[in-house]
Amino acid sequence: MPFPYQRPRRLRATPAIRRLVAETTLAPRQLVLPMFVADGATEARPIASMPGVVQHSIESLRRAAADAVAAGVGGLMLFGVPEEKDKDASGSAGLAPDGILNRGLSILAADLGDSTVLMADTCLDEFTDHGHCGVLDASGRVDNDATLAQYVDMAVAQANSGARVVGPSGMMDGQVAAIRDGLDAAGHTEVIIMAYTAKYASAFFGPFREAVGSSLRGDRRTYQQDVANGREALREAELDVEEGADIIMVKPAMAYLDVLRQVADVSPVPVAAYQVSGEYAMICAAAQNNWIDLQAMALETLTSIRRAGADIVLTYWAADVAGWLSD
Ligand code: PBG
Repeated sequence: MPFPYQRPRRLRATPAIRRLVAETTLAPRQLVLPMFVADGATEARPIASMPGVVQHSIESLRRAAADAVAAGVGGLMLFGVPEEKDKDASGSAGLAPDGILNRGLSILAADLGDSTVLMADTCLDEFTDHGHCGVLDASGRVDNDATLAQYVDMAVAQANSGARVVGPSGMMDGQVAAIRDGLDAAGHTEVIIMAYTAKYASAFFGPFREAVGSSLRGDRRTYQQDVANGREALREAELDVEEGADIIMVKPAMAYLDVLRQVADVSPVPVAAYQVSGEYAMICAAAQNNWIDLQAMALETLTSIRRAGADIVLTYWAADVAGWLSD
């Protein structure tokens, strides 16, 4: 017997063979594009730490959303950026039907109908003057149950504005059950909850805070998960599924592929992962220095996130990838 008789390289010999045996697919339909719409913006404003990502005006949002849908992305996730003067302690501009997020949703729902899956970030941090994801109690701590009441009203307002998916991202206990009850009571039984289930207190959210003009001082460690913990993610996943989450999410993605794998192995519902602002910014910055190849790196990281078990990936490259894959 000649040695080596086991030759795994046989399956790597030509592009056609590699394509035949590839385990993991990366398709535009699996990708969701997060988008920012800013109140008062008359044109798209660049976000310095996220090259190529902008705070949209309503008009530029409509164009970019239509383009992304035409390119084949699986869905759009909308974030609102209010004017500074509209922020308050309870984040009321996030709930108002004429607030920027709900206006953006209504307009996209009217433009795009069921040709895409329209999603909304269901969280107060963009809208609070203190920048936390919930309302504060007298001692300045985020008040879990008072926050739930705000999330319920926010989710119902988003559903009324045409969101098909609400994405509670504040990591309050019981947020999925409360929102499910509230949506059902309002007649929105078909609205999907994509729960940010295992969301870590991560430095990778840094550029996002510029993207939404966050007012946060301090950190979110009393509600987002500790970076050191993996097992806790399974507990959060079990709770969210019990509470009625239709899709669960792990976030960030690349530094948490182990968590993603564990959650995907046991989840009875589809699993999403969010390639967050810091992951995007790092790759852009290295590419701008010609240290890496942006497109190759984006595709490799996204494929890795899919391989680790994500059915759906939220990524700022969603529309670009759709273009690259069709080239
Ligand atoms: C909270 C929210 C955040 C992100 C998505 N939803 C920020 C945070 O928790 O600080 C981060 C997304 C990203 O970094 O790309 N509304």
